[in-house]
Amino acid sequence: MKRVEGKVAVVTGGALGIGRESALLLARHGAKVAVTDINDEEGESVAREIAESGGTGKYWHLDTSREDSVARVFTEVAHEFGSIDILVNNAGIAGVNKPTHEITAEEWDTVLRININGVFYCTKHAVPYMQKAGGGSIINMSSIYGIVGAADLPPYHASKGAVRLMTKNDALIYAGDNIRVNSIHPGFIWTPLVEKLARESPEGLDAFRRGLDNRHPLGHVGEPEDIAYGVLYLASDEAKFITGSELVIDGGYTAQ
Ligand SMILES: NC(=O)c1ccc[n+]([C@@H]2O[C@H](COP(=O)([O-])OP(=O)(O)OC[C@H]3O[C@@H](n4cnc5c(N)ncnc54)[C@H](O)[C@@H]3O)[C@@H](O)[C@H]2O)c1
Repeated sequence: MKRVEGKVAVVTGGALGIGRESALLLARHGAKVAVTDINDEEGESVAREIAESGGTGKYWHLDTSREDSVARVFTEVAHEFGSIDILVNNAGIAGVNKPTHEITAEEWDTVLRININGVFYCTKHAVPYMQKAGGGSIINMSSIYGIVGAADLPPYHASKGAVRLMTKNDALIYAGDNIRVNSIHPGFIWTPLVEKLARESPEGLDAFRRGLDNRHPLGHVGEPEDIAYGVLYLASDEAKFITGSELVIDGGYTAQ
């Protein structure tokens, strides 16, 4: 059974990790997928993989921190695929990992520009298409770091907490338009983002990964597809009564 047949999905940060897996899964379930990213080589390769497996996908270069870029690409996507029904606000960066009093204003703003402003710009420019279509589903990638603190990555925590509440507020604003807005809160998922944190950690990659595994009651970090299935569910009509909710997919991390 194809769960999002005929719908048009925009996935930001679709070249790698969680975004890549979400784009592939949505396409496998019948969506026409706009794979968007700033990493053109990997983004093109995701679109190719979709096409080679019989799906519909196209890559667009899109820096979510630039409103002009978002507006232009969304116009092109709607022109190419007919509308926008699903928006996966996935693009995000970890940013600097220093205590708060050592962070420069520029380092702070860099994270917020992508992780918060990006979600704002993409939501702003997707909503009119969804209103015209009579509904839609917006999925915002927050984090367990949007729910609890971990004494690291201060601007990242700030940004993911903001995304959690932007989700609930937009869910209320657009409920009357039948646009559902939900957030997903992954635990640690082994992606290029986490691998980079591991490589840069003082204890080294293997010890870092073991430490992460141990922080999840299920005994290991997650895989991108664990999150992609949550995206697919929230994007589909199976979730038609779900809005303003936070889907925690974290191997038990925040249950402790
Ligand atoms: N991996 C985890 O453990 C984890 C946990 C919780 C939340 N998340 C969130 O999930 C999302 C995806 O994370 P990931 O681990 O797959 O990351 P990743 O670094 O593996 O992939 C992120 C993608 O976003 C793209 N990107 C970065 N800046 C961008 C910009 N300005 N415009 C467009 N694209 C941009 C990158 O090029 C990359 O392809 C992020 O929002 C992240 O904060 C990840």
